[in-house]
Amino acid sequence: MLRLLAFTVLTAAATFTAFAEGSAPAAPAAAPVAAEPAANPASPAKPAETTDTASAPTPAAPAPAAPVKLTFTRCNVDGPYIAITFDDGPHPTQTPRLLAMLRERKIHATFFLVGQCVAENPEIAKQIVQEGHEVGNHSWSHPNLLKLSADSVRDQLERTHNVITQEAGVVPLIMRPPYGNFSQQQRAWAHATWNYPTIIWDVDSLDWKHRNPAKTESIIMANTRPGSIILCHDIHKTTVDAMPSVLDKLIAKGFKFVTVSELIKMHHEPIAPLVPAKVAKAPTLTAKKAATAATSLKDLDTPKPKAKPKTKTKP
Ligand code: NI
Repeated sequence: MLRLLAFTVLTAAATFTAFAEGSAPAAPAAAPVAAEPAANPASPAKPAETTDTASAPTPAAPAPAAPVKLTFTRCNVDGPYIAITFDDGPHPTQTPRLLAMLRERKIHATFFLVGQCVAENPEIAKQIVQEGHEVGNHSWSHPNLLKLSADSVRDQLERTHNVITQEAGVVPLIMRPPYGNFSQQQRAWAHATWNYPTIIWDVDSLDWKHRNPAKTESIIMANTRPGSIILCHDIHKTTVDAMPSVLDKLIAKGFKFVTVSELIKMHHEPIAPLVPAKVAKAPTLTAKKAATAATSLKDLDTPKPKAKPKTKTKP
């Protein structure tokens, strides 16, 4: 028994070290995905090759080429979609209060659960999921993960992953490190191990700090925009006190609430900035130069194109 346990621990540690030291995030992420389908088609591989020679290389090529996005602080979406998130629960009294407010408004939120709180309040964790909200991994006891050993980080996330799966009845798809503290290597490892993207936030209500409903509301209302991920904590009474007004005002501004995973599915990389820069330079400027040169030669009174007509008059 002891030998078996020791072997398991050593294997787990070795696996973690391998992922933690890997510099390229794409490689470990692709490995577990490729491992699953490879186990099945031992014999069916031959007929597939003969019939689908054209389609076979197509799905294989984009998979490794697509970059893995490990972190989301906000999303780029086409529409007024936002995700509101509540951390550090479930709380025995505040979380049920909040759930009633969300239910009344048909809003789905995302709860980043602390493992030991799930163990203490399993029925509330179950209720969160049953009412259509998303749950994510927020570690077991809310430590600064940057300061822990690799084994301790694994323990923090693994225990929480398992207690959420067992008690809430759903496998968490996302994680948020306490205080947002998680290195790039840890993010790559968490993605390779549980397929977790690391979820941060772009709107920090600072509710834990000021404990003031009016400030919670003003910060959220001033900073929320389409694609925002809003950070709140459902363990504070003052935060939940702020919610009826915050939620109603966000709805009144036209925002639509989705879970973090739903928001991520809508995300696309920003490509707009590159396009106008290239288009604007060459054709527009030469056309303007020609136009101003023509008018200044005729009128001889425009002060601005002084430098330009000099060059234009030569040819
Ligand atoms: Ni937290």
